[in-house]
Amino acid sequence: MYTRDEQRAFFELSKKYLSQDGAIAATPTAQQMEGLRRLIIYHEWRYYILNDPVVSDFEYDQLYKQLEKLEEAHPELVTPDSPTQRVSADLNSEFPEVAHLTPMLSLANSYNEEDLFDFDGQIKRLLGFAEDADIEYAVEPKFDGGSIALVYEGDRLVRAATRGNGVMGEEMTANARVIRSIPLKANFSEYGIFRVELRGEVLIRKDIFKKMNIQRAEQGLTLFANPRNTAAGGLRIKDPKEAAQRGMEAFVYTLGYAVDQNGNNVLNRFATHWESLDLLDKLGFKVPAVERKICKNIKEVVDFCHEWQEKRDTYPYEIDGMVVKINSREIQERSGYTAHHPRWAIAFKFRAKQATSKLIHVEYQVGKIGSITPVAKLEPVQLAGVTVSSVSLHNEDFIKSKDLRLGDTVLVERAGDVIPYIVKPMEELRDGSEQPIEFPRYCPINDTKTPVALVREEDEAAWRCPTCVCGAQDLQRIIFHVSKDAMDIEGMGKSIIERFFDLGWIRTIADVYNLDYEQIADLEGFGKKSAENLRKNIEKAKQNPIQRLLHSLSIHHLGKKVSKLLAAEIQHVLDLKNWTLEDFTHIKDVGPIVAENVMLWFQNEKNIALLEEMEALGVNLKQTDEDRPKARVTEGPFAGKTILFTGTLQKMGRKEAQEKAESLGAKNISAVSSNLNILVVGEAAGSKLKKAQELGTVQILTEDEFLQLIDGAAS
Ligand code: IVH
Repeated sequence: MYTRDEQRAFFELSKKYLSQDGAIAATPTAQQMEGLRRLIIYHEWRYYILNDPVVSDFEYDQLYKQLEKLEEAHPELVTPDSPTQRVSADLNSEFPEVAHLTPMLSLANSYNEEDLFDFDGQIKRLLGFAEDADIEYAVEPKFDGGSIALVYEGDRLVRAATRGNGVMGEEMTANARVIRSIPLKANFSEYGIFRVELRGEVLIRKDIFKKMNIQRAEQGLTLFANPRNTAAGGLRIKDPKEAAQRGMEAFVYTLGYAVDQNGNNVLNRFATHWESLDLLDKLGFKVPAVERKICKNIKEVVDFCHEWQEKRDTYPYEIDGMVVKINSREIQERSGYTAHHPRWAIAFKFRAKQATSKLIHVEYQVGKIGSITPVAKLEPVQLAGVTVSSVSLHNEDFIKSKDLRLGDTVLVERAGDVIPYIVKPMEELRDGSEQPIEFPRYCPINDTKTPVALVREEDEAAWRCPTCVCGAQDLQRIIFHVSKDAMDIEGMGKSIIERFFDLGWIRTIADVYNLDYEQIADLEGFGKKSAENLRKNIEKAKQNPIQRLLHSLSIHHLGKKVSKLLAAEIQHVLDLKNWTLEDFTHIKDVGPIVAENVMLWFQNEKNIALLEEMEALGVNLKQTDEDRPKARVTEGPFAGKTILFTGTLQKMGRKEAQEKAESLGAKNISAVSSNLNILVVGEAAGSKLKKAQELGTVQILTEDEFLQLIDGAAS
């Protein structure tokens, strides 16, 4: 649709318009206005049609606002095809089109406190309120998923549709029916409502999304990019059975339309937006809970929005801002609508999570087992409140699959709790000067005169330096050894290890236990007290249970879980010296690869000498009964099952029951979902029981049945 040259020109033009001095003069020519319109239409195409924007939402909004402002000042220059004259379209022709009962408008955006005060001021002026009057607002999250409209008639869900262009949407009732948070029946008639249209957003929880991608990786499937696109895409899947696998959920946030049997509008029965949400909550819909709030005035709104801007990452779903709505329906109606959005609501958008930057060069880091990780150095760019200039490229395949080149403009994203990553290079912006990234064949960290060729095992993604001659890997192993996940030596961070390493005090992990604290006390920045604290922490770490020690040795593939399994089987760490491959693999969950790695490590005399040295320095290598990890239960009615207790138990405390179940191999979870295997029902059980019954896949036990089963399992 657009040529590469055109796209490059649009990108340059966007940058120009977005920089202060490049903005169009207050009196534009018709041609300049047309240019700006075309630019915005281009960005809409990238966003809605390709699902692949090249500017951030914030930047797009800046352009849009510029056009709106100019059009307001020069109405004679407005054309019917201007982006401001219609709601954006993203129709996909494969689903039948349906007309919404009332148009699904969008929201005006705000980005800071000043914008919010302006919004409040405008309403007051519009409605003739005093400047210092307080307007009450309802504030809730701005969900970042796929929007939907649900129609209920005679209490039944009769239609669901995507937003489409706001007037017409795509009908996708079959897919909506598989989303369990959308009730198929809801008792609207009790409230005199015959036909109603609800607005909401379909989302995928961040942790479920992560799990889904882990599973996909295991199955060799391509990974989903992010929860938002996966949810929006999920609504358009042709096979509802497949849609059901996406873990989609729906929040509802507005009653758009409601009439009684005679077709009379009954929306005005709700005095406030809050009341309508409460009703939806009561009828079994998912509505925002703790994360919605009534604010007495705009000042409280600002505080609440800022609070959520800071804690957005802790929210289980992706949100890209907050929505501020006038709570009173009467005031809402008096404020009215523009063609584009209601005047009574505004979105407060959080800081952008995507940005573009230039890939300047690639640096390499070595890990504790010699894996070489390429790291992209970028021109520093602001992203969701932090400056990003360094982003991991993981491995050679990542660079190849994205076809990244030096000099590329790249799209960087920092979503949720995810560390920044490169989404893709912007191929349309290349001018031919970009250079391929040549992954090194010799260790790039090694600073000695002896080059070491890198190796790559067939089924591994990383290139490794097999025989470190420069000490860089030793350093990484020591840093890992003392880290939180391993021996957890408090006060001994990366920088201290690096310092001691440079001073030649620590060259192996055994040296950590053989420090000269008087010397340390004399170091700049230390003193007697900190040296003494360090000594205490190291002494404490010496007594760690041996599963920690095993994990801290940086044996390739030996993670926490297998360290625990091995520790459960031995009396002393050095017992492993005599273990055969079969000894390792007979333990459930210990695979042949990790088995071989651990066996070879313990057959290496240097490693044994290291452990003996550590033991001589007081590090614990013995297993104690107290520390011995409990072997996992693999049989019985609870092994590997998820369990949930609801209602009041009569014969046993809930905590006790949970512990009992766990000791028999079950895992406690907190919600009824298709992941739940067993629900134990005490007195006065409520909605959880109902939900489990509806699911039909959950084994439901009374307390007595549960007790019988534990007795049987324990004997
Ligand atoms: S109310 C008439 N509330 O944001 C008011 N919208 O930019 C219509 N959205 O298309 C919107 N969370 O998909 C509203 N709590 C919320 C929302 C929300 C997300 C989406 C919605 C809409 C878009 C507008």
